[in-house]
Amino acid sequence: MTKVVAFNGSPRLEGNTSLLIRMVLHELEKAGITTEVVQVGGKQIHGCTACMKCFENRDRRCVFDDDIVNECIAKMAEADGIILGSPVYFLDVTPEMKALIDRAGFVSFANDRLFSHKVGNAVVAVRRTGASRTFDSMLHFFLANDMIVPGLPGIGVGREIGDVERDREGIEQMKRVGQNIVWLLKTMNHSKNASGNTGAC
Ligand SMILES: Cc1cc2nc3c(=O)[nH]c(=O)nc-3n(C[C@H](O)[C@H](O)[C@H](O)COP(=O)(O)O)c2cc1C
Repeated sequence: MTKVVAFNGSPRLEGNTSLLIRMVLHELEKAGITTEVVQVGGKQIHGCTACMKCFENRDRRCVFDDDIVNECIAKMAEADGIILGSPVYFLDVTPEMKALIDRAGFVSFANDRLFSHKVGNAVVAVRRTGASRTFDSMLHFFLANDMIVPGLPGIGVGREIGDVERDREGIEQMKRVGQNIVWLLKTMNHSKNASGNTGAC
């Protein structure tokens, strides 16, 4: 079973980021991929304290177990693909998304790049400015973790909840982001199966 897990960094549960994530996941579901959305925005999540315990323990966990980050790390580790979604907050990701990136990213580093060769992409809800920078903040999580990003940033324009559903170009982009993830996952699965059949490494 191929699975993709998405993390919604917006505190607005049914807001624009959530709508954009759903558009991407719709394409995945049409292709038979199992999906899950994990709500991150609005949760009490603290930042990385640079205690470096994850490098001492190397147990795939952050030493702080009082929020959802360890649950998120476990879901990331078992998924074939990871989607990060955030609205633009002062030209960057929300603090909850940043905390997830820092802590999950360091736990991954401490465990021989836990998310290596998974597929990743990001979606951004923007009113006017900062979409590229916000996308980059999430993109670097994927790149630093040995992950593979199938092109095209997912950016939807809107301010009030539901505005992104009137951004026709954004909707097309979300479809394409989803289709690219499907294509890459299928290609990777095919190549895994082929190497299994021939005994090639
Ligand atoms: C604290 C805060 C900061 C924001 N900063 C920006 C910004 O720098 N640039 C921008 O274009 N929109 C900014 N916005 C607007 C949101 O990105 C926009 O409304 C987005 O659609 C919200 O997505 P959501 O419904 O998923 O929360 C900001 C909104 C808030 C609440």
